[in-house]
Amino acid sequence: MEDLSLHILDIVENSLRANAKHIEIKLIQDEKKDRLTLEIIDDGEGMSEETRKQSLNPFFTTREGKKIGLGLSFLAQSAEEAGGKLEIESMKGKGTKVTAEFTLSHIDRKPIGNIEETVRCLKATHPDVCFDFESLNN
Ligand SMILES: Nc1ncnc2c1ncn2[C@@H]1O[C@H](COP(=O)(O)OP(=O)(O)OP(=O)(O)O)[C@@H](O)[C@H]1O
Ligand SMILES: [Mg+2]
Repeated sequence: MEDLSLHILDIVENSLRANAKHIEIKLIQDEKKDRLTLEIIDDGEGMSEETRKQSLNPFFTTREGKKIGLGLSFLAQSAEEAGGKLEIESMKGKGTKVTAEFTLSHIDRKPIGNIEETVRCLKATHPDVCFDFESLNN
């Protein structure tokens, strides 16, 4: 994955597959703490605790006809390569929150990419879903 906007597309695809109708994408850049945080929050079907724990395993997927599920493990890898981590909170029937943290100035931190364009495309291709994008600079 070349930049964070491509990771976002991938993670949002999970939310769409979980029938989310409201998807929030938040990007928080904190220069003082040297931290970049990406949050993707959906109101989809959510995961059981067992599924949540397995979701980072590349050999786990609930997609039919597939044997590997790479979206979350790729994002976890990108975060860890840049001195950060990935966290997944989820509740069955409520939704899911994926938080990826990166060291902002880390040499291996991927560029942000064109998130505005990514969100525009998502909105155009999924008119029935509400996308909220927020970018904060602390
Ligand atoms: N937002 C979500 N809501 C509900 N379940 C999710 C969500 N995100 C991930 N999952 C669960 O975690 C699994 C792993 O997700 P991941 O993105 O890593 O792989 P995948 O979507 O199965 O395959 P790929 O991303 O390679 O197309 C999914 O198959 C699904 O069961
Ligand atoms: Mg996926």
